Amino acid sequence: MNAALKGLAVQAPSYVKNAKLIAWVADMAALCKPEAIYWCDGSQEEYDRFCQLMVDAGTFKKLNPAKRPNSFLANSDPSDVARVEDRTFICSEKKEDAGPTNNWMAPAEMRATLQPLFDGCMKGRTMYVVPFSMGPLGSPIAHIGIELSDSPYVAVNMKIMTRMGKAVYDVLGAEGEFVPCVHTVGAPLQPGEKDVSWPCNKTKYIVHYPETREIWSYGSGYGGNALLGKKCFALRIASNMGRDEGWLAEHMLILGVTNPEGKKYHVAAAFPSACGKTNFAMLIPPAGFEGWKVTTIGDDIAWIKPAADGRLHAINPEAGYFGVAPGTNMQTNPNCMASLDRDVIFTNVALTDDGDIWWEGMTDTPPAHAIDWQGKEWTPAIARETGAKAAHPNARFTVAAINNPALDAAWDDPKGVAIDAFIFGGRRSTTVPLVTEARNWVEGVYMAATMGSETTAAAAGQQGVVRRDPFAMLPFAGYNMSDYFQHWLDLGKKLEATGARLPKIYTTNWFRKGEDGKFTWPGYGENMRVLKWMIDRIEDRGEGTEHVFGVSPRYEDLNWTGLDFSAEQFKTVTHIDKAAWQAELKLHAELFQQLAHHLPKELPATKAAIEQRLAA
Ligand code: GTP
Ligand code: SPV
Ligand code: MN
Repeated sequence: MNAALKGLAVQAPSYVKNAKLIAWVADMAALCKPEAIYWCDGSQEEYDRFCQLMVDAGTFKKLNPAKRPNSFLANSDPSDVARVEDRTFICSEKKEDAGPTNNWMAPAEMRATLQPLFDGCMKGRTMYVVPFSMGPLGSPIAHIGIELSDSPYVAVNMKIMTRMGKAVYDVLGAEGEFVPCVHTVGAPLQPGEKDVSWPCNKTKYIVHYPETREIWSYGSGYGGNALLGKKCFALRIASNMGRDEGWLAEHMLILGVTNPEGKKYHVAAAFPSACGKTNFAMLIPPAGFEGWKVTTIGDDIAWIKPAADGRLHAINPEAGYFGVAPGTNMQTNPNCMASLDRDVIFTNVALTDDGDIWWEGMTDTPPAHAIDWQGKEWTPAIARETGAKAAHPNARFTVAAINNPALDAAWDDPKGVAIDAFIFGGRRSTTVPLVTEARNWVEGVYMAATMGSETTAAAAGQQGVVRRDPFAMLPFAGYNMSDYFQHWLDLGKKLEATGARLPKIYTTNWFRKGEDGKFTWPGYGENMRVLKWMIDRIEDRGEGTEHVFGVSPRYEDLNWTGLDFSAEQFKTVTHIDKAAWQAELKLHAELFQQLAHHLPKELPATKAAIEQRLAA
């Protein structure tokens, strides 16, 4: 090992007592060969210094402080704008443990593949040691990770997205466990070589070793590819932890909803990427819902554990939001807009002439001129002629949860909140009705397992194609999807056996389109109408009509005060078309065929029952 580097790594701050960590940092430094090692303390002073460093390097633009205090804009490389699912790997010892929905390579083969790529990958750069806790520091539900990254952009984003800093080392102590996460943009610098504003590499690998609980990420600086606490740790690795330890790591927002009598409920909802989690988590009840209140616990990920009271308790392992910018505005999501007033990192939005930001759908009237996310001149006329977008469709904001005016008082509670209902919702322009309640846990698991959704800009690849996205976890389940279904079924049985009342399970679809190609359902705040029906059902006072695969509200079962939405329109978003469902069930059959290994028998049995009812 390079003696100088070993010396550097061993010069860990005195508060770092974990010998395993120090040795690992030394090993990784010897492999990646950075110019320097920097141990992040998570302080505001450090954050400000890194932001300035990136302003000087051209990675960040400081926004006009009179408009958007302490906020920055980063434009990524145009090739590095979203998660790369085809470059994401689950490297379990056995292929069947990754399952047919994940890319797999044997760990030894992957290690041999990555070795030459990581060798010297950080030359000319600083290796940042980023200590973070997923979940409240020291909570029995929380877990620690350490990310080594050569990207200061990652370091500052991790400060917002997680509990990042020195205090993590107190929890870790001398013997504590952590998930090692190694990240490089894969762009070593030769002596004297000038850096680019967004270094990355055409070759990308997002690699997970579930058995040894390791994450290795190569070549991207963007989002879930690089902020390894998020999808890589809190979903792919944590789903493995959850299976082994009897809990759930889910792609779910968590919200609190309080009725006018002051009774509070908690709902966790799984929608695929860019299908409405952040918006639903920050919902403001519309006219007709006076006295109702919705509060945010989390907007993307839930860790859910059975508690001593027989109920499922959920925490948000994150501390910030990495949210979709386009479509966010004062009508669709005022809480989100207020969250973005200050202290924000924007990525791939447009820069306005007054030093502020803009994206498609932010205001009715676009700015007369802006610099688009690729640094080019943008005007509404150019957009009309060339189709150029001011912001990339997957442009994002990074902001601390504490900026959210609707933040739930219990968002940081280490005990979590007791879940009353689960929602699974896809993006479907046809076929799937607005809302359906499962009659029991197994039927709910079936609905979640067979959910389909149209692909979005959150992942690289084709958009708008319907694919099965079981539990909104297709890109995030860190083990065999059929085993994951079994885990849900087992948990249901276990809870039922304690005599506890299980959370109700719903599916939703906010995205049905009319013949005009427009969304028929107004969505956003108006989704409260559906949420209230769910609460009514939990209280055994909501009416509905039973159909082939569950229970849905009739027009008269929803509160329409304050909204002009006719029974005819309601029919277009709730109608169940027999032929469409026969075709849909063929897609369920294809999924089950793909997942045949270990597929719980309850699922084909539920399908057979639906088919029988459809045929009747
Ligand atoms: P990720 O952060 O990728 O996990 O996405 P998300 O699930 O948090 O989705 P988000 O709330 O950011 O919404 C994604 C896109 O869908 C945005 O452009 C929203 O404006 C739009 N959207 C959200 N909710 C609704 C809705 O109820 N109706 C319609 N029509 N669009 C919605
Ligand atoms: C998603 O794609 O579901 C996201 C964005 O939340 S990323 O963090 O890039 O995964
Ligand atoms: Mn989101």
